[in-house]
Amino acid sequence: MSALGFGCWAIGGEWQTLDGQPLGWGKVDDEESVRAIRRALDLGVTFFDTADTYGTGHSERILGRALGKRRDQVVLATKWGNVFDADTRTLTGADDSPAHARRALTASLRRLDTDHVDLYQLHLSDADPERAAELRDTCEEFVREGLIRGYAWSTDDPARAAVFAKGPHCTAVQHTLNVFHDAPELLALCEEFDLASIDRSPLAMGLLGGRRGTRPEPGDIRSAPPAWLPGFGDGSGADPAWLARVDALREVLTSGGRTLAQGALAWLWARSPRTVPIPGFRTVAQAEENAGAMAKGPLTTGQLADVDRILGR
Ligand SMILES: NC(=O)c1ccc[n+]([C@@H]2O[C@H](COP(=O)([O-])OP(=O)(O)OC[C@H]3O[C@@H](n4cnc5c(N)ncnc54)[C@H](OP(=O)(O)O)[C@@H]3O)[C@@H](O)[C@H]2O)c1
Repeated sequence: MSALGFGCWAIGGEWQTLDGQPLGWGKVDDEESVRAIRRALDLGVTFFDTADTYGTGHSERILGRALGKRRDQVVLATKWGNVFDADTRTLTGADDSPAHARRALTASLRRLDTDHVDLYQLHLSDADPERAAELRDTCEEFVREGLIRGYAWSTDDPARAAVFAKGPHCTAVQHTLNVFHDAPELLALCEEFDLASIDRSPLAMGLLGGRRGTRPEPGDIRSAPPAWLPGFGDGSGADPAWLARVDALREVLTSGGRTLAQGALAWLWARSPRTVPIPGFRTVAQAEENAGAMAKGPLTTGQLADVDRILGR
């Protein structure tokens, strides 16, 4: 699998919570999403991460359509645990039961137009660890049935990730990792259990792509940021303090002819040999730029130290 994956949250389009909080990234052009995925494939990207909830099933459908006959060339990851209403594009709750896991997997396979998922991930980051141990066993059943190849928990909590890591076919942890948000305990856990670190929000949700103070469009989660989403203030645009940190890092991240986004990905590869960044995208241009980071490789150890010094770590 490629050193870089593509994150398919944004291409799901708009969806929201029951009280109207946007959960998507605003409007998307499905034809552009399909072109971007195919361009990524042509450029050597062979890992794609989605979830049943992204656009309440839409992201999975678009990914399945874009891959078509090339499905077997890629490692396909999706997630389960949330419950949604596709008619109203609304997240309605969560379900951590084994019965729901099976229902959700069946539905994802249909939308993705495939007979197996390569990496099946629990999307409930704060799920009860005892219940998760049961779900880990359910995933082992799915492996035996040939419905999935491996599984992971998408969580920032090392203790929870360790519950899944004990399963023989747990192959990864998905967690937040970017220049601003280090995760040494999770990286150590990946080392200990021989897991991949699948890195979400590698571009700090656009800040490390160079997004400046422009107001995100309504329907974009960054226009009404939930408490867990840093860097976008009250939703009127990127926070000036965060932009100042981006500016301070610009010189080191854009070394070696890299763009800022490519530098942010290069930091992740330098951080650990286990990292697999999964930047989101909405356009062919972003797909080309992000895929282009692979040829430029990781930052040097000295540059990693420069980043820590600049950020006062
Ligand atoms: N709980 C979970 O499991 C979870 C949570 C979060 C994310 N994820 C996964 O991780 C993936 C990525 O994380 P993320 O979506 O949080 O954000 P991210 O990858 O940090 O940022 C993605 C955004 O950055 C901008 N961008 C992308 N490439 C760019 C480029 N080359 N130049 C400039 N801007 C660029 C785009 O937004 P604009 O152009 O609109 O600014 C894009 O939507 C998701 O797609 C999803 O698969 C999982």
